Amino acid sequence: KIIVLDYGSQYNQLITRRIREIGVYSELHSHRLTAKQIKDLKPSGIILSGGPNSVYEEGAFTIDPEIYNLDVPILGICYGMQLMAHHFNGEVKKAHKREYGKAQILRQNDSELLATLPDEQTVWMSHSDHITTAPDEFNVDATNPSCPVSVMSHQSRPIYGVQFHPEVNHTEYGRDILKNFVINICGCFGNWTMENFIELEVQKIRDEVKDRKVLCALSGGVDSSVTAVLLHRAIGDQLTCIFVDHGLLRQNEADDVMKMFSEGFDINVIRVDAEQRFLNLLKGVSDPEQKRKIIGNEFIYVFDEEASKLEDVDYLAQGTLYTDIIESGTETAQTIKSHHNVGGLPDKMNFDLIEPLNTLFKDEVRHLGEELGIPQHMVWRQPFPGPGLAIRTLGEVTEEKLSLVRQSDAILREEIKEAGLEQDVWQYFTVLPGIQSVGVMGDQRTYDHTIAIRAVTSVDGMTSDWARIPFDVLEKISTRIVNEVTHCNRVVYDITSKPPSTIEWE
Ligand code: XMP
Repeated sequence: KIIVLDYGSQYNQLITRRIREIGVYSELHSHRLTAKQIKDLKPSGIILSGGPNSVYEEGAFTIDPEIYNLDVPILGICYGMQLMAHHFNGEVKKAHKREYGKAQILRQNDSELLATLPDEQTVWMSHSDHITTAPDEFNVDATNPSCPVSVMSHQSRPIYGVQFHPEVNHTEYGRDILKNFVINICGCFGNWTMENFIELEVQKIRDEVKDRKVLCALSGGVDSSVTAVLLHRAIGDQLTCIFVDHGLLRQNEADDVMKMFSEGFDINVIRVDAEQRFLNLLKGVSDPEQKRKIIGNEFIYVFDEEASKLEDVDYLAQGTLYTDIIESGTETAQTIKSHHNVGGLPDKMNFDLIEPLNTLFKDEVRHLGEELGIPQHMVWRQPFPGPGLAIRTLGEVTEEKLSLVRQSDAILREEIKEAGLEQDVWQYFTVLPGIQSVGVMGDQRTYDHTIAIRAVTSVDGMTSDWARIPFDVLEKISTRIVNEVTHCNRVVYDITSKPPSTIEWE
């Protein structure tokens, strides 16, 4: 395996992910590990990640210098490379201007790291310090006008450094560079798969949990589903799931979730039918934030109530992803934004946490789900917000309004599937804006509801564009909705991007 030492770059877990893509197991560790601790992990290679510090800064993250003597290949990326240059007496200085974005580098020397790659290539730089003079024992393998030492390598030992970020997509040959390091230089085989991840995690979970009990809150979403199935694989009946049906799910969703988990996987699932409790609390409330708060709090309350009926539960399993953690800030990385979902359940719950997905990215979790035998439609489903249809029923939520949203949403989903657009549109749903308008049906005047269709393309939900669904598909959807959903006489299509809109309407 390859271990990545974390110096606080936003990209650090992306490095481990790229290496897993090459088919080699990789994990991220604290930069505080000593050479002895690293030796015990028996890595085939070590990568020092980038980071926001400057090597000369007070309190800058350092490295146990004995690591350089372990006789394990080392690759320093950005800050990692500067740290290396500093140790071997090179010169690291503040650049005249911060270099950020694409740059061209030019080969100066044959280096195993750049083997088989073109002499000139585009890379992604993001740094304010750079190396002005490489250490004596190092060769400069590639340069760039504003960054004289873009790639360097030790003359007699397998120690390499790159100033740019090979892990990001903008670096044209980034994957090849990492592959050269991992396969050619470190001698890894490249035969690691998600199956190995399952084996490893199952063993880790068993070692940690032993014969104790674990509780998991099942929402029906991808992350909690994969977490539950993985835990079940590891500890079987020591796992109990609680599924709070707040009555704000899509058509047949609650039954489908129950069926899949208790029949399909034979997992203990306690279903709590709490629809009335939620609807009662939402009565008369039309402010979006207040609706969200009521639903979030009640969810915790119901879950807590149910959990307290169980005996001897020591652990709570959560489907936290790596991206949830990095966006909320970690020990080394700076906070970019607080995430919707982190910290959903209160600290006062006296459980130890198990978060087996916290090193993975969303699409890796989907592959893991497939490997665990979770059906395709479940694993590749579109995102669905915790507060469910309540935030798609604008204003006050009632059973009747929910039913309009539910029916129209089911039609939309059927037609998107029928048109083969499921993979092209990132998220699609209907909204009840709470508008009534005049129409004519048969010879009768109607005064009925409007349904809005929201369909977007996106990569991560942070920004999005409205999906260009073909007109004939929209036509079919509209016709079906007004015909099949009673008290709906108008369908509109939302053509705003995010920003300035958000994807959900509330
Ligand atoms: P917005 O509306 O903020 O949505 O553009 C971005 C993405 O997040 C989903 N979303 C949520 N997911 N809990 C969630 O788990 C929430 O409270 C929540 N609110 C919005 C939304 O569906 C979209 O995919």
